Amino acid sequence: METTRFQFANNTPLSLSPNFILPEENRPILSEVFSSASIPTIDLNNHDIDDLVSKISRACEKFGFFQIINHGVPKELCQRVLAVVTEFFQLPPEERAQFLTTDHSKRVKVFNYYQKVEGQGRVLMWGETFTHPWHPTEDFTHFLPKSPPQYRAIFTEYAREIGALMDKLLSLMSQGLGLEKDCLKRKIGERPAIYTQANYYPPCPDPELTMGLQAHNDISALVVLLQMEGVSGLQVVIDGKWVAVEPVPDAFVVNIADQIEVLSNGRYKSALHRAVSNKRLARLSLPMFYAPNNDTARRSEEEGKGSFSVTALGVRS
Ligand code: OGA
Ligand code: NI
Repeated sequence: METTRFQFANNTPLSLSPNFILPEENRPILSEVFSSASIPTIDLNNHDIDDLVSKISRACEKFGFFQIINHGVPKELCQRVLAVVTEFFQLPPEERAQFLTTDHSKRVKVFNYYQKVEGQGRVLMWGETFTHPWHPTEDFTHFLPKSPPQYRAIFTEYAREIGALMDKLLSLMSQGLGLEKDCLKRKIGERPAIYTQANYYPPCPDPELTMGLQAHNDISALVVLLQMEGVSGLQVVIDGKWVAVEPVPDAFVVNIADQIEVLSNGRYKSALHRAVSNKRLARLSLPMFYAPNNDTARRSEEEGKGSFSVTALGVRS
């Protein structure tokens, strides 16, 4: 991938200035990251449904993260979406700057993550993020950038595929919890809040001094992430240790986020993860988030079941 042209939309110079340098205790220690043992890769083209349900269920219980292959989303479409999102990040910075905002309610925006550090204020993460809503069936083109010109068409097609894939995953996960197939989907609600967050991490002169994306749990329900081949960066905590999620060709990374952890009464794990930058290569990741909308959350609360009803699903942990 060509990276020489990349500049942050907010004009922060792309140099490892003190703005980006984390205090020692917050830095990633890359020599301690495990890369051999990793999360499972599950073949979704498995006609033995019981076997598939149990594989997915075990991965959700043990790791909260897994990769899927033979998932049915055309390879060529995945390549096209990664290419067009990369092109977006290679637009002149002033073109992306139109999406910069400090207004948290804006649904389409370009921003930079930071970590608040005591005594140092904000330390910037080495990456830029573009977020916008998506929808599997409804027209959401008005949220999408006009440039690059193919962005809208490709993303619309991709969203349809990811929507169908998420339905399938939610159904398998519901069965794994001993629930009706459509249970998780119904619980998440009719009009889910769905958004994507394209993360672009330019090459970093010293990935051990900074972070691409700080350690976090995803607050949504379910995440399907597409990452570039050949550049690693995503890491997840397994048994207290950081483990690299190496890109598997033609795979998606799937992870359980907080709402499904709660809905499953803690049986499915929302795991802590982060992204580190790479010394030589730029990296792009494209997580698609699926979450209950605020009304669904509010309704559950009003019913007095906490923010999400756990007992109503009758899942035993
Ligand atoms: C995220 C995320 C990981 C990555 O955007 O929530 O965890 O590899 N991204 O960029
Ligand atoms: Ni995340």
